[in-house]
Formats: sequence, structure tokens, C-alpha cells
Amino acid sequence: MARTKQAEPRAKETGVRYVLRPMVSADIPQVMDIERESFPSMWPQTAYSRELKNRLARYFVLVEEGEEGEAGVEPKSLRTRLRKAMRRLLRAEEESPPTRRLIVGLVGVWLMVDQAHVVTIAVREAFRRQGAGGLLLLAATEVAFAENMESVTLEYRRDNEPASALYEKFGLLSVGVRLRYYTDTNEDAVIMTTPPLKSKSYREKYERLKREHLETWGDSYLLPDSF
Ligand SMILES: CC(C)(COP(=O)(O)OP(=O)(O)OC[C@H]1O[C@@H](n2cnc3c(N)ncnc32)[C@H](O)[C@@H]1OP(=O)(O)O)[C@@H](O)C(=O)NCCC(=O)NCCS
Repeated sequence: MARTKQAEPRAKETGVRYVLRPMVSADIPQVMDIERESFPSMWPQTAYSRELKNRLARYFVLVEEGEEGEAGVEPKSLRTRLRKAMRRLLRAEEESPPTRRLIVGLVGVWLMVDQAHVVTIAVREAFRRQGAGGLLLLAATEVAFAENMESVTLEYRRDNEPASALYEKFGLLSVGVRLRYYTDTNEDAVIMTTPPLKSKSYREKYERLKREHLETWGDSYLLPDSF
């Protein structure tokens, strides 16, 4: 039987690794592309330049490993690299050129009093079903632990089966519905939350889920040492 495009373990087969790191303004053009592809009816799009200044928000991207600006290019002479480094130093952040390495996914978390609310999570279509979504959700949960939050919460469109399956797999529980919450399509929102993060039973479950996920996909992704 022919395998579908989405079922191919591309990251594992190619050996390309993807690094999870905080989002920066140079990532915004690619992030907007992923958002457009993932949420076609969403309007207006998220104002990421404003979000990146929000003290209570944490955004991460999953980006192809490698030195930025050198994607697919042979190392240049020391003189050229020094000149480029000088140019980079002199340039203001707003003027930094867009990220060239491929960004395959993003996640955003708002720290709301004692809850880490996942405001966005999306993976480039061609890279789905390769563990990236799970990794991004683990990242959101790691942020919640690091920030001493009580739980992780989120909502999704009732018909969004991949999202629902992802969240259930990672131990979130459905706690309610907001009727016709999404004004663009009138769809209901399902609200989900983790059990208390500090409970021993959830912590153990989370550690097991994380271990299993990293055993399956960990070779393809690099996580930061701390969140
Ligand atoms: C939801 C989304 C982020 C999942 O990303 P992903 O990289 O495909 O997820 P993973 O490969 O890590 O999958 C983890 C688990 O989620 C579930 N899952 C993900 N996609 C699924 C699908 N299409 N059908 C059924 N289950 C799915 C499975 O349980 C899967 O585990 P498994 O591969 O062991 O069966 C991705 O489909 C996406 O970006 N969708 C568009 C944006 C979106 O809807 N975001 C959520 C908004 S609330």
C-alpha cells in the first residue's frame, strides 16, 4: 500500500535536525506563512512583532539546524565571515534579514496568573506527523513547569481532529465548550486543561510521555537546556 506524504518520517530519514529556540523578529515572515497555511480562515493574523514584546508571552520556533545566513552554502573565507559578522553587529534588530533556515513549527504560550495558556501551535503541513507538534506541546509544558504554573490550558475548534488527538495523547482533559466561539466560522471551542502540574500522578505521566516522545523522535530535534 502506498504511504501518504504525511506519514513519511522525513526528518529521521534525511538526518536533518531541527532546533527549538525562542522566536525572534527575523522569524516573523516564515511564521506568518505557517500561520496562513494552518489557520486559513483566521483574520487578522497575529501581530507577532507586538507579541514578541509581551512580557507574559513566550514564543518558540522549530528551525532547521545550522548557522543562520549560511543555509546550504559552503563555509566562506575568514575575511568574508568577519565582514558579515561586523555587518550583523552594526545592524539594528529591526533591520535583521529574515531567517533563512526553514522554520517547521511554532508554539506560543501566555502566562496568565497561574495558567500557561497555549495561544498557538502549528506545524508546516509537509512536516506533520513527524513528532514536531508533540515536541512543541512538550515545550509549552516545560515553560509552564519552569514558570511554576498550576496547569496548561488551551482551546481548539471542535472539528479539529489532529489537534484533539494531539492534546489527548499528551494528557490534556476536556473541561468545557464555548459555543460559537470562533467568529469567522461560528465553530465551538473545546477547552482543555492538564491536571494540576504539581500533582505527582501528572508529573509521572508527563515524564513518561516526554521520554516516549523523545525516544521516538528525539534524534530529529534539539531542545534548549532550560526554558
Ligand atoms: C495539530 C498539529 C500541530 C499536530 O502537529 P504534528 O506535528 O502533526 O503532530 P505529531 O506528529 O507530533 O503528532 C503527535 C500526536 O498527535 C496526534 N495526531 C497528530 N496529527 C494527527 C492526525 N492528523 N490524525 C490523528 N491524530 C493525529 C497523534 O496522536 C500523534 O501521535 P502518533 O503520531 O503517535 O499517532 C498539526 O496538525 C497542525 O499544525 N495543524 C494545523 C494547526 C492547528 O490546527 N493547530 C492546533 C490549533 S488548536
